[in-house]
Amino acid sequence: MTTSRGSDSWYARPAARAWTCAPARARVHAFHASLDGYAATPLIELPAVAVQLGVGRVLVKDESARLGLPAFKVLGASWAIRQVLSLWPAGAHVLLVAATDGNHGRAVARMARLFGQRALVFVPDGVHPAAVAAIAAEGAQVNHVAGAYDEAVPSWIVEGYSTLFAEIDVQLPALRAGPPSLVVVPVGVGSLAQAAVAHYRSKPAGAGAALLAVEPDTAAGVLASLTRGELVSVPTGVTIMAGLNCGTPSSLAWPYLREGLDGAVAVTDADSAAALRELAGHGIAAGPCGAAALAGARAALTGEGAGARRGALAIGPDATVVLICTEGADANPPP
Ligand SMILES: Cc1ncc(COP(=O)(O)O)c(C=O)c1O
Repeated sequence: MTTSRGSDSWYARPAARAWTCAPARARVHAFHASLDGYAATPLIELPAVAVQLGVGRVLVKDESARLGLPAFKVLGASWAIRQVLSLWPAGAHVLLVAATDGNHGRAVARMARLFGQRALVFVPDGVHPAAVAAIAAEGAQVNHVAGAYDEAVPSWIVEGYSTLFAEIDVQLPALRAGPPSLVVVPVGVGSLAQAAVAHYRSKPAGAGAALLAVEPDTAAGVLASLTRGELVSVPTGVTIMAGLNCGTPSSLAWPYLREGLDGAVAVTDADSAAALRELAGHGIAAGPCGAAALAGARAALTGEGAGARRGALAIGPDATVVLICTEGADANPPP
């Protein structure tokens, strides 16, 4: 379904709200909460922005200071590393991790041995036993993964992102807000959006929010894939939204994005820069990727053709909109 933003910058699929999938493991949030320096990132209400967007409430999930780093990404990395380390005996030191169908893993294992370190090599099903034995003979720990490597470490990273959405579940009632009507997610390869889909589409049918992906217009691989109905790559250019500059969606994320996203929109650098300035005016020091969430909400909910787009997302004047502001202003300082 497309509306008057043009099929190259807008996509909607209302049926996505009825799709369901399994949730992330519940212990992810507890793991993050056990880390030194953990605190839920703020969920900040911006009433003036709600008026502009013609909705009831706008809340910004501000990831500018997450476990001491200026972006949400450490949620995924910390959980994935925890999972990897849990495969080793306690007290192990440096670990080189590789995913391989043979040669690369053996090379990593050899180098690890030469440098006196350990290696952990993920081997997908179907690799010849002799190749597996050769890697093990280099002293590496070999771990079989069902299916492809794509289903191991990246899925832990995605699972790690679930904490961000679990926090929102706790924060909204504390702000006397109901469940979100719309959650807006900046998208690069789509792993964070996959986590959003897994979170909201694993709730009882009908309770899910509309989920909107936002990409730079110069790297809108998810929008192009959704529009075509198949995973495609697009050429990328230069954008201030550096973390979103990805032309090929994650193949692991793709089934979730295809089935579970209600909408996708492309925004320009100028849109992001304007949103960044606006957020700064409200005291939120967002980076360009984080500000893309506000730019995307504005592109979807206002302007020519907004009525049809709002209809597709089921957004009325009382809607609660959550913007995932994925990075702070100092996440990607100029070189
Ligand atoms: C700040 C920021 N926001 C959003 C994203 C998009 O995440 P994903 O690649 O999982 O779609 C990234 C990815 O690098 C990022 O760095």
